Order: sequence, then C-alpha cells, then structure tokens
Amino acid sequence: MVRRLVIGAAGQLGIELVLRMQKEFGVESVDISDIRVPENDAAMRSKFLHLDATDEGALSKILEEGQYDEVYHLAAMLSATGEKKPLAAWDLNMQSLLNVLEAAKEGLIKRLFWPSSIAVFGPSTPKNRVPQDAPLDPTTVYGISKQAGEFWCRYYHEKYGVDVRSVRYPGLIGHRSVPGGGTTDYAVDIYHFAAKDEPYTCFLKADQALPMMYMDDAVRGTLELMGAPKSKITVRTSYNLGAMSFTPSEVGESIRQQRPQFELRYAPDQRQAIAASWPSSIDDSAANRDWGWQPRITIDDMTSLMLDAISTKNETFEH
Ligand code: SER
Repeated sequence: MVRRLVIGAAGQLGIELVLRMQKEFGVESVDISDIRVPENDAAMRSKFLHLDATDEGALSKILEEGQYDEVYHLAAMLSATGEKKPLAAWDLNMQSLLNVLEAAKEGLIKRLFWPSSIAVFGPSTPKNRVPQDAPLDPTTVYGISKQAGEFWCRYYHEKYGVDVRSVRYPGLIGHRSVPGGGTTDYAVDIYHFAAKDEPYTCFLKADQALPMMYMDDAVRGTLELMGAPKSKITVRTSYNLGAMSFTPSEVGESIRQQRPQFELRYAPDQRQAIAASWPSSIDDSAANRDWGWQPRITIDDMTSLMLDAISTKNETFEH
C-alpha cells in the first residue's frame, strides 16, 4: 500500500484531498497533519499527527516513524493574509518547504507534492492564456514565496534527484471546506450567501476576471500528476493548471439562472489590487501534453454543485 501524508490537512485543499484519498485508496492509506485539528469528522478518520511544519525536528520524527511514499505539503499562508503579516508568511511558506525538501533529499519521502499558484504572475505577465514559461513577476509575499519555492523545487530535483511535483493552482472553489485569507475566496463565499438567499457584497470589482477551478478538478489533477510516471514530468518548477476564467458578475449571472432573486453588490478593497496583478486565464498545454490534464467542470456545473450541496447542508443543520 502506498503510504501518504498530507501536511496542512485542515486547510481548504487539504480536507478535500484527504477525503478523496480515503475514498480512492482507503482511510489507512493516508495520515493527516496540521498545526490545528481539522474540523471535519470524516477527514479525522485518518490518523492525525499534530505538526508545526516549520519545526524540522518534529517533521523528521513524523516522517521517520511513518515511512511515507508520498507527502503532500500544503501548509501555507495565502495572499491576502500574507500581506498583513509579510515576514510570518515568508517564514511559514519557505521554512516549511525547505524542511520537506531536505527530508526528501535524506530519503524520507519518495514523492513530494507542493502547490504553487497563479500568484507567481504579475503586472508584466500576459493577462490571457499566460504561457507556461511566462516571466514570473509576483507582487505579494505569498507570490514571492511561491516563485522562490518553485525554483527551490527544481534545484532539489536537479541537484539531489528529489521527485517533487507541483502545479500553479488557480482560485479553488469547493463546498466541503472554506478558504482562509485568499484573494479568490469571494468565489466560495458568494455561494454560501446565495444558498441562504442573502445578498453578497464582493470585495473585487464586477469585471475582474481570474482563473478559477472547481475543487474536484483540482484534486483529480493533483492525483493525476502524482500518479504520472517520472519520465513524463518535464516541468520541475510548477505546471500551469487551468480550468475556467470568470468575473464576479459572471458568477452572479450563473447563480441567477437558478436563484433569480440573488443580489450582488460590490465594495472592492485592498484585495482588488492583488487580483488586478494576476492573469485572467491560463495556458495549461504543458500539463495536458505531459500527464493528460483536462478540466471537466464548467461554471454552470459548478454553480449547481455548490448551491445544491450548501443548501442540503444548511437544511440538515436547521432541522
Ligand atoms: N487562492 C489563492 C489566493 O487567493 C491564490 O493561490 O491567495
């Protein structure tokens, strides 16, 4: 059995990835760790290990005891929170990555996954269908940490043969977990308000297009990348990964097809400037060529899935 460890399992992506791994490979196949206990009973069926990923000694101990084949290192501070605590974001994002890379170099991890982000792009990158090898130009501490992280990953691969794989996620949207401190979070929040028939005030401008992805696509893509033969992986910084591109006003329209009364207002804040520096769509042909990446979920599919799932959950809580 392939043994997996998810670091940052209590986060938006962590919970979803763990639930999918449990379903596909069995509860025993994945251990979970975080600095806080995940608020998800199903995820907690896996063995939970308390871990501050910046603590190199604690990490090594867990890895030595667990003998994992695959480690998914997701712990990070996202873009908006990172701007409030720049040095803390840098410390967490970089130190924890260097710790897992060192552990992989020592042979404690066979295959490592680490996420990068569209936040590596910036004002000088093309806005539409940004190519795989576009210049990186991050404007946030989060983006700078992802840019540096990408090159650290490639360095450890080239110098020490570490099998580390990565994708640049767009904004991720799912109903099983909530994001924390990101610029793309509005696209999750909006569905929670719409499902309660409440108006939503968006912190980005109506016409701010960003690359986005439904969580099921993101999780599937991650597992496909990790399951691909080593010889297929030609990008050792991080693969562009695309699915959809939409503006807040387009999500509003998609929601109104199902909830015609839905009201969307706008009050852009400091997150608008971050969003404006990012591209609006992604060219992910390298991921398609190397390991067959193809997104499946469209904006209207996503709206149905999100509203149905959140409404059902709300009803269960109310009764
Ligand atoms: N979703 C992230 C953020 O908004 C981008 O990687 O910070």
